[in-house]
Amino acid sequence: MTISYRNIHLVFAAGALATVVATLVATGAFTAAGAMAPAQNAALGAGDSERGAQIYKTRCTGCHSLDANRIGPRHRGVYGRVAGSLDDFRYSPALQAATVVWDDNSLNRWLTNPEAFIPGQRMGFRLGDDAARRDVIAFLKRESGA
Ligand code: HEC
Repeated sequence: MTISYRNIHLVFAAGALATVVATLVATGAFTAAGAMAPAQNAALGAGDSERGAQIYKTRCTGCHSLDANRIGPRHRGVYGRVAGSLDDFRYSPALQAATVVWDDNSLNRWLTNPEAFIPGQRMGFRLGDDAARRDVIAFLKRESGA
């Protein structure tokens, strides 16, 4: 088998292009192109916990509080806790059976669409705004001392 110089040049050119693409991706130049990017940012927990406190007050406290169970379970310590694991709250069987640990990624998925994440759960609420989710997750993390 013979390899021409022309082919070798093409291989080098492809290699160089791959390096450039990898660098652009690593530096976030493709953020707008990748649907994954906002979710990854949320997963990094770059939210603002002060703004999150306000969002929590307006969007979550109809059903939740930090220290008392209401329609939903109390939240202090929820970050890092196994889903559905408080002894004194009556969860749906689905949430109780879940083995998810609440962190940036799982909370982001839960708040985006709880039913898609844990089918059969009972939280009838979604937080559609990416930045609001990031901020409220930062707040829950702070209040959990995590
Ligand atoms: C309409 C009422 C309602 C609203 C509003 C609501 N939740 Fe819930 N939430 C629930 C219920 C009910 C559950 C328990 C679900 C189950 O047992 O399946 C729950 C469960 C949770 C859990 C799981 C906790 C655990 O112990 O595993 C988290 C986390 C959570 N909610 C976060 C939030 C956040 C953050 C907000 C505001 C952005 C919010 N919820 C708004 C009703 C609500």
